[in-house]
Amino acid sequence: MNHMNILVTGAKGQLGQELKSLSALHPKATFYFTDVEDLDILQLEQVQNFVVEHRIDALINCAAYTAVDKAESEQELCMQINAIGPENLAKAAAQVKARFIHISTDFVFNGNSYVPYTEMDAEDPLGVYGSTKLRGEKRVVQAYPQSVILRTSWLYSSFGNNFVKTMLRLGKEREQLGVIFDQVGTPTYAHDLAQAIMVILGSDDERYTPGIYHYSNEGVASWYDFTKAIHEIGGVDCKVQPILAEAYPLPAARPHYSVLNKAKIKSIFSIEIPYWRESLKKCMALLNEEIENKNNR
Ligand SMILES: NC(=O)c1ccc[n+]([C@@H]2O[C@H](COP(=O)([O-])OP(=O)(O)OC[C@H]3O[C@@H](n4cnc5c(N)ncnc54)[C@H](OP(=O)(O)O)[C@@H]3O)[C@@H](O)[C@H]2O)c1
Repeated sequence: MNHMNILVTGAKGQLGQELKSLSALHPKATFYFTDVEDLDILQLEQVQNFVVEHRIDALINCAAYTAVDKAESEQELCMQINAIGPENLAKAAAQVKARFIHISTDFVFNGNSYVPYTEMDAEDPLGVYGSTKLRGEKRVVQAYPQSVILRTSWLYSSFGNNFVKTMLRLGKEREQLGVIFDQVGTPTYAHDLAQAIMVILGSDDERYTPGIYHYSNEGVASWYDFTKAIHEIGGVDCKVQPILAEAYPLPAARPHYSVLNKAKIKSIFSIEIPYWRESLKKCMALLNEEIENKNNR
């Protein structure tokens, strides 16, 4: 990678922290890791000034409103963070012709399919979170058609709070758990997504192709399968029962099927994608190390 000044917004989230941990592998790049307290993506002027002052060559937007259920009662805030904020960043990137990578979600689809979704498939989000993320995509493309939008799914990491950590904790606390088995998608290790982002950013001008791309780990799973794998790898002894989503009502509806087809990103950027179970093992090995280090202190 040639020298680049890279701005990462929402850097305290799962994906932002994964990018931070990868940044050491890119000594030629200067990274600016910011979160809402240093750079609020809702403040257009502040964002534009930052990009100009620091001569930013590339922006990676990891900032988002990700509380899917809470979003149902916080529509306006969710819309601001997931649609207006990304539009502001796209405008700032356009002004200096920087590369802009924005992250979106499998929740832009309604889940009625039974084959993996491609970038050509029609969107039809079921809830406020998905609708605002879709609006964000559209605003980004309109403000800066040269943007790259990566849709991903079911993110987890050794950083932040996520499904893996919740299921490990619940599995240790309880003898029995009911977990949904009629929602199928692909768990994605944020570390793998961060690596893919760096490959895209580092690609030469000929290869760098703006547009929407799907990225998740390989394979498919229900939340039930995901939980069984987490417990198996983590050596947790808990009886997990498959339950229907209708037996566990939540404020936001979720797609029953949201597997993403990754053919486009694999072919254009020559990205190799790991199988979800292999990545889960890597993440859980790190979590184990952290627990052991804490216990030895
Ligand atoms: N998590 C998933 O399962 C999932 C699935 C599919 C797609 N995605 C997408 O993947 C991307 C990364 O997700 P993630 O799980 O890493 O998110 P995350 O952990 O929720 O991190 C988002 C970060 O953005 C910050 N933020 C919120 N408002 C901001 C603002 N106005 N200005 C600057 N920063 C702001 C948040 O701060 P606060 O915590 O203080 O609000 C948080 O640190 C997002 O675009 C998300 O929509 C996530």
